Amino acid sequence: MKKIGSLSELKQRKSLKFPIKQGKWESEGFLIWFEGKPYAYKNECQHLHVTLDMDDNDFFAIDGTLLCCKTHGALYQADTGYCVGGPCAGETLKKLKIEMKGDAIYLAE
Ligand code: FES
Repeated sequence: MKKIGSLSELKQRKSLKFPIKQGKWESEGFLIWFEGKPYAYKNECQHLHVTLDMDDNDFFAIDGTLLCCKTHGALYQADTGYCVGGPCAGETLKKLKIEMKGDAIYLAE
């Protein structure tokens, strides 16, 4: 398992990005702290193959409860990744399994 962050830092910053390596392919994931729990998703919009945050590590919409893709404004539920509005409504972000040991957060897959 690979360590991708710490709970203390995630609680403070609300979101953290981390690299994902699959063979020679590299992509990116992100952790969010939402309603007292951590969640992890692949950082890829379900409309086009672009990151949600445009590199500024800011994933939440203004209301603070939905995740937002900054390219065309798709809105995703923070706890499920389900897209509730925008050009990819009905699609779902790829959720990543995580495990916690103490303060450390690990990618489980
Ligand atoms: S690329 Fe995300 S909404 Fe279009």
